Amino acid sequence: MRITQALLGEHGAIYPLLELIERTTASSDLGELKIRAGCLQSALGSHANLEDELLVPAIRGFLPPPPVSGDGAPVPTDHEVIDSGLSRVLSSLQLEEARQSLLDTVAETRKHFLKEETIIFQLTERELSRELQEQLGAEWARRRGVRLS
Ligand SMILES: [Fe+2]
Ligand SMILES: [Fe+2]
Repeated sequence: MRITQALLGEHGAIYPLLELIERTTASSDLGELKIRAGCLQSALGSHANLEDELLVPAIRGFLPPPPVSGDGAPVPTDHEVIDSGLSRVLSSLQLEEARQSLLDTVAETRKHFLKEETIIFQLTERELSRELQEQLGAEWARRRGVRLS
């Protein structure tokens, strides 16, 4: 199994959580919003770590250089933007602010997933050897505790 197949499967498992949040945020209280934000942060955080540790080093040479802001500081990655959006929900004291931050972060996550599915994973499959893609897939399984026959 290739690394991209594993990561696409994770996106597939996370989409229902995004849908649940979109469907229920308007009627949720602050405590419920925080529980959902915490679940999403856990699911997305481990997914993003695997991408950053397994996939990104293998394809870095095929990606444009990371953007820098006007003062030369690195621009936060999509993964960092999403994580800080969820942290904002978890630390929020105001219901409306938490609702907006959560919905904005879910929208950001959908945009990020689409970019990976239509650009990053296709680039991976085009540029990396099949053998390397399968080695990375095996390492993904080892880290997730999934048995591959
Ligand atoms: Fe990602
Ligand atoms: Fe992803």
